[in-house]
Amino acid sequence: METLEIFRCFIKVIILVLSLHVLPSISYTSFVFGDSLVDAGNNNYLFTLSKADSPPYGIDFKPSGGRPTGRFTNGRTISDIVGEALGDESFPQPYLAPNAQADAVFRGVNYASGASGILDETGFLFIGRVPLRVQVNYFEQSRSYMVNVMGENRTKEFLKKAIFSLTIGSNDVLNYVQPSIPFLSKDKVSSTMFQDFMVSNLTIQLKRLHELGARKFVVVGIGPLGCIPFVRALNLLPGGKCSLEVNELIQGYNEKLNVMLNRLNQEMRPQAIFVYANSYDAFMRILINYPHYGFENADAPCCGGYFPPFVCFKWHSSNTGLCEDRSKYVFWDAYHPTEAANIIVAKELLDGGESISFPINIRELYNHNNS
Ligand SMILES: *[C@@H]1O[C@H](CO)[C@@H](O)[C@H](O)[C@H]1NC(C)=O
Ligand SMILES: *[C@@H]1O[C@H](CO)[C@@H](O)[C@H](O)[C@H]1NC(C)=O
Repeated sequence: METLEIFRCFIKVIILVLSLHVLPSISYTSFVFGDSLVDAGNNNYLFTLSKADSPPYGIDFKPSGGRPTGRFTNGRTISDIVGEALGDESFPQPYLAPNAQADAVFRGVNYASGASGILDETGFLFIGRVPLRVQVNYFEQSRSYMVNVMGENRTKEFLKKAIFSLTIGSNDVLNYVQPSIPFLSKDKVSSTMFQDFMVSNLTIQLKRLHELGARKFVVVGIGPLGCIPFVRALNLLPGGKCSLEVNELIQGYNEKLNVMLNRLNQEMRPQAIFVYANSYDAFMRILINYPHYGFENADAPCCGGYFPPFVCFKWHSSNTGLCEDRSKYVFWDAYHPTEAANIIVAKELLDGGESISFPINIRELYNHNNS
């Protein structure tokens, strides 16, 4: 480390120590785990086929001036929008970016990685990705750094107030439902067993995070993937139709996830709270009633076309292949929502009622005093 860098860290630590005394609960900190729905650039640092580092990704992301950041959408992700609404002034850095550690103690860290899943093997076709278990290993590293800087007690106090969000599981489901690869399909488990594997593996990681000091959790359920352009096209479904099979698998998983979170809440409240974010219903409402929300298209992606290989890419200096008005589309590419859709869902999760965010919403979780 260069002297200047050391000096900058030193100043940051001083400011941090002061702010912990003066403003104990004002600043918003979050640790973000998940897949491409919330990846803020980790995959830029991996050798992987799952990348969003070229235009037009990020075209509406103001902090980068419209340049791609690795976010798999045109603008902000749901966790960006929620953070901003709660006073976060700059988004948590991707863990794999240089210098992310030094910032951790101020604004949290983003560990999310496109193509990753709850299960380690999920996403292997994309080569590089960081599975949830490894994301939690990375958090362990961040925590050691914090303990070095602030000591064990301050780190505990700091983590108690931070929000830990997990947005993961979509890729596990997509891998499971895709036309299988012959030599791998022979031991495909039943859908019930698959849901149970997902929930129990996720539980292990939630408990690890709890042991490391996390107290405020937001666990995002899986959205209606049966309705995304990719799945609709694979199943040759006409416009407006969703794959029932995929959506039923997801609803079954979400129910089991909910039961598990209720159990954790019974065991650990009030010291720890696990909020279930019902992104399934939040997105479904938009899809069913899209004109009501100001959308004109809930079928086709804004970028990359409707049929395989769904490449969202800026070919020339013009934005050919891009829809005219991004705010009128629910889907940005064949897999991911536009910022316009993310804004609506983020609002629901922040301030919505129990049917969307249970047992409390994210704003209440943020204000909750669990000291
Ligand atoms: C940390 O907290 C424990 C228990 O609250 C206390 O006994 C200990 O003295 C504290 N350590 C420091 C370095 O403040
Ligand atoms: C986690 O998932 C794997 C499949 O990827 C499964 O073999 C294993 O039993 C699961 N672990 C638990 C604790 O359920």
